[in-house]
Amino acid sequence: MQIKNDLVLRAARGEKVERTPVWLMRQAGRILKEYREVRNSLSGFKELVETPELAAEVTIQPVDILGVDAAIIFSDILVIPEAMGLQYEMIEKKGPIFPETVQSTADINRLNVAEANDLRYTLDAIELTKKQLNGAVPLIGFAGAPWTIFSYMVEGHGSKTFSKSRRMLYTDPVVSHQLLQKITDSTINYLKGQVAAGADMIQIFDSWAGMLPREHYQEFSLRYIRQICEAIDEVPITVFAKGAFFALEDMVDLPCNTIGLDWNMSIEEAKRIFPNKTLQGNLDPCVLYATPEKIEEETLNMLSRFNGHPHIANLGHGVYPDTPPENVKYFIDTIKKSQLITS
Ligand code: CP3
Repeated sequence: MQIKNDLVLRAARGEKVERTPVWLMRQAGRILKEYREVRNSLSGFKELVETPELAAEVTIQPVDILGVDAAIIFSDILVIPEAMGLQYEMIEKKGPIFPETVQSTADINRLNVAEANDLRYTLDAIELTKKQLNGAVPLIGFAGAPWTIFSYMVEGHGSKTFSKSRRMLYTDPVVSHQLLQKITDSTINYLKGQVAAGADMIQIFDSWAGMLPREHYQEFSLRYIRQICEAIDEVPITVFAKGAFFALEDMVDLPCNTIGLDWNMSIEEAKRIFPNKTLQGNLDPCVLYATPEKIEEETLNMLSRFNGHPHIANLGHGVYPDTPPENVKYFIDTIKKSQLITS
């Protein structure tokens, strides 16, 4: 189906656009009271993820309410470990927990390589969302990067140090590679399913990229991200490696279209390193707590720094749940009003 507003897709391909497109990581979520209403009527987060009609509804909310130029399918990166055989629980106000973790080859052997159909509920949600969007804006599919998924499967939860998962890279590199390969194969199956179900582009979230030294990032993360980018060649791909400023040079020849920048990364340096890739980001999410004047100033400053380079505006990480939605809207409107030509 023809997409009416395809600015994000054209910017991702490095084509000329009339204005910079914009969407936000974590736009489908707690910043919106309409999301919280749906969410509070359910037993928990997983019920929302696993009910396609409701997942489609909250995916479309930010398109209608905030006016973003893309939707991102409502799900979580942790559905992959679950499809491989490791159940997760989402604990209210705390985050995800895995009651069982992976520590050995025996544990890895018990896991499956996930097939796309193991995650039928997300594929159904994508199909439904595409129907309901009716070509208004593109739909972004996503998955976690293998290293980030690995760290949850080994730690069992988020961590300040990631010392268990990082330790394994030194003490058991062979086992580490076995698990990373199994996650990668599962992720490729899942993302191919998302594209077949209608996802117009894909984003890989490497949320814990910044925990690794450069050599480990190359060996245990980028190597697997590369496999995913090589396998998913039907739609544009964005790689967002949070905190990986030290690895940007190593990402130059990744077969992806767009590199996501966090707010610590230098826009000028990224433009120099990636002459042939689109850049996405990278306003500090905390700007959105400030006054409208400050939001406008910081947003226009960001736009002018990206000017001349293909750019998709976004924050440098997900929007924080207590951000006033009117400030999010002000950020989006500021970008839509701006007449800067970005490529
Ligand atoms: O709008 C969107 O971006 C799409 C939906 C989305 C969610 N999670 C929904 C969600 C996406 C793309 C994710 C990705 C995700 N999940 C990442 C990578 C991106 C990042 O932020 O670095 C990670 C690390 C996770 C794992 C995860 N899920 C954590 C650590 C948490 C708890 C922290 C928190 O924000 O509460 C979640 C829960 C989660 N995933 C929520 C949402 C809307 C909040 C739970 C709720 O509504 O009850």
